[in-house]
Amino acid sequence: MKLCMVGTGYVGLVSGACFAETGNDVICADIDADKVAILEKGDIPIFEPGLDTMVERNRAAGRLSFSADPPKAMAESQVIFVAVGTPPRSDGAADLSAVDKVAETVAANVTQETVLVLKSTVPVGTNERVRRIVKDAKHRIHVVSNPEFLKEGDAINDFMKPDRIVIGCDDDDDFARDIMARLYHPVSLGQDRIIFMNPTSAELTKYVANTMLAMRISFMNEVAALCEKVDADVHAVRRGVGSDFRIGSKFLYAGPGYGGSCFPKDVVALVHTGREHGVEIELAAATDRVNQRQKGVLARKLKHVYFDGDLRGKKVCVWGIAFKPRTDDIRESASLQLIDALLAEGAEVHAHDPEAMDHARAVYGDRITLHEDAYAAAEKADALVLVTEWRMYQNPDFNRLKARMNRPLLLDGRNIWSTYKLANQGFTYEGIGVRTS
Ligand SMILES: NC(=O)c1ccc[n+]([C@@H]2O[C@H](COP(=O)([O-])OP(=O)(O)OC[C@H]3O[C@@H](n4cnc5c(N)ncnc54)[C@H](O)[C@@H]3O)[C@@H](O)[C@H]2O)c1
Repeated sequence: MKLCMVGTGYVGLVSGACFAETGNDVICADIDADKVAILEKGDIPIFEPGLDTMVERNRAAGRLSFSADPPKAMAESQVIFVAVGTPPRSDGAADLSAVDKVAETVAANVTQETVLVLKSTVPVGTNERVRRIVKDAKHRIHVVSNPEFLKEGDAINDFMKPDRIVIGCDDDDDFARDIMARLYHPVSLGQDRIIFMNPTSAELTKYVANTMLAMRISFMNEVAALCEKVDADVHAVRRGVGSDFRIGSKFLYAGPGYGGSCFPKDVVALVHTGREHGVEIELAAATDRVNQRQKGVLARKLKHVYFDGDLRGKKVCVWGIAFKPRTDDIRESASLQLIDALLAEGAEVHAHDPEAMDHARAVYGDRITLHEDAYAAAEKADALVLVTEWRMYQNPDFNRLKARMNRPLLLDGRNIWSTYKLANQGFTYEGIGVRTS
């Protein structure tokens, strides 16, 4: 099938490559000409494990191409996916200007009966809104909602082996249903994984899923704070609770607050959607409040527990800038909030991340020092704060670290070293809600 992926970011590039991998003829279009030029040169503008080889393989096979001319790419395609950004506006609602723009361009350029698929995360009512935009196009445009559930760092696996594929489509729209079913057949194990529903339900499903996951994280962060007061251990509580099959073990890890381009904005957008319809979704609002507070936890602990409320001139080493491992994405990362707070308090920040340094450099310029070598970032540091649990940080040479640091203080935002008995090696160690004796 000939399809166009509009928006070649984390979602669009992965989805486009995966659709090409299953035999479709895919053109990925973006208004960012620099990004398209990078892709056309054979490079990948983001870090996502396995993506480079998949893109290369499908380009070489002639199934995947790139274009900085979305109208032309749309005109050649029978199915057009929208994977552009939907960032939050200042009131929390999703900014749909890019989606609207794409819909207008599609309406003006289609050359045949077309299926327009909304893959971006969009609030309830967007499918209807897009239908209004495209209703006068020269050819019929079927508007389908197909939210994406992939996670950065494991995106190809998620796309190729999805838990479910949600497709919001009119019950009587056999044209669109058949095309969507055929497109996803190779990854849906005989269609068992496809869940058809009406477009509004599909739109809501994405926000509810992300908010549910974020809620578990915020709840465990509150539990961690209580653990610290009552000499309980959040690891033990997590294992005890997560082994109940009704609850399950995923997304129960205490930490420095969730980040990324999805959870923070989607939780707030759900609250906003509820309010628009007179429904106060209190759990979602609380999830966001708890998370915002949690994002300050590492800076607060450093300042008040270890430095008597004064971080001026202190040299702090930060390990991990990406919002999670296996991605270079730093959007809404807890690390940014920590670094901002440290700089505001007059501390000197030295940081390392295996993949996200370019993005960090773009944000901070020379306000922080970035080191290619993780140990060099800890040289003469008064504290080391672990924010992202990259594998390379799991088992560092602690003796080497101690020898370099000015003060052997480790603040572990992901609890990855909590069982290492680091006090025995001369460190002051603190995690989030864990017992360390
Ligand atoms: N990143 C994730 O893990 C993830 C997962 C599931 C869903 N989503 C959702 O998918 C959507 C895209 O997210 P992303 O992380 O891939 O965003 P992104 O910022 O990485 O990529 C968006 C791309 O769209 C392009 N674009 C913007 N306007 C355009 C236009 N008019 N025409 C063509 N291209 C245009 C931008 O240049 C950019 O390359 C969002 O709605 C997001 O919430 C993201």
